[in-house]
Amino acid sequence: MSSDLMPTEAIKRIVRDAYRNVPPTTEAVARRIYSPEALAGVPMSAICRSLGVADHLSWATIEPGDTVLDVGCGGGIDSIIAAHRAGPSGRVIALDFLPEMLERTAQAARLAGVETVEPLLGEMEGIPLPDASVDLVISNGVINLSARKGRAMAECARVLRPGGRLCVSDLTVDQDHLPPEIVTQPAAWAGCVAGALSEEGFLHKLDRAGFRDIEVVSHEPLSIDDCSLYPLFPEHVIDLMRRLIPPERHPQVAIAIVVRASRP
Ligand SMILES: C[S@@+](CC[C@H](N)C(=O)[O-])C[C@H]1O[C@@H](n2cnc3c(N)ncnc32)[C@H](O)[C@@H]1O
Repeated sequence: MSSDLMPTEAIKRIVRDAYRNVPPTTEAVARRIYSPEALAGVPMSAICRSLGVADHLSWATIEPGDTVLDVGCGGGIDSIIAAHRAGPSGRVIALDFLPEMLERTAQAARLAGVETVEPLLGEMEGIPLPDASVDLVISNGVINLSARKGRAMAECARVLRPGGRLCVSDLTVDQDHLPPEIVTQPAAWAGCVAGALSEEGFLHKLDRAGFRDIEVVSHEPLSIDDCSLYPLFPEHVIDLMRRLIPPERHPQVAIAIVVRASRP
């Protein structure tokens, strides 16, 4: 369902409801995405709430002392990995619009013995941070959930200092390949598929938001079996996908890209 057919507020409500009560059952997602080395030092509570789409942090340059903003931190897995890399003189601002997610991130950071993760309640379309206050923006499977993706990207650019970097992962799809019966399922939006852009559309919006040196450094196909690892996709949506998407496309219903860019 494209955002011009569904009101912005309705999309936000669907996403909030889906993520507020998401169960801690996604260890398999974390094991699929991250290397064992990346997960060392991450508490199981965060591993079991991994809802991202790729290991963008393996492509991110994180310097000791960096101020990192994790947009849509969820259960905190990337915030904790980033905090380890930014060291005790760094900061990781963990932004999410659900207080429940921030509590989960704070608790996981305590369990990891990390004191530099700072939960921040707010929306990616209006990030409650000053201009030019961050060295690096990271985000994993979040921007596609917004009905105002260009606005969210512009906010990421605004909070970055000149020369600051962006390193995000997100799903891209060819919407023409998704049958309308799937596109109109609210769960498919919450599952990061129905609201996703094409790769070209994603890169165009980053450019419009003021980013430069934009490069896609990784492409990973997402299969229907991969989708079924996420509790966001109820069984009836997975069944619909299996029935309505031609079998030759089952191994690749979406592509997780990792994009790096910088703010001039
Ligand atoms: C797919 S999950 C990804 C979580 C985390 N990045 C990870 O890799 O596990 C999306 C997260 O983004 C948050 N979120 C969705 N829309 C948001 C918005 N408009 N502003 C801030 N956070 C949002 C959700 O609450 C959820 O925690």
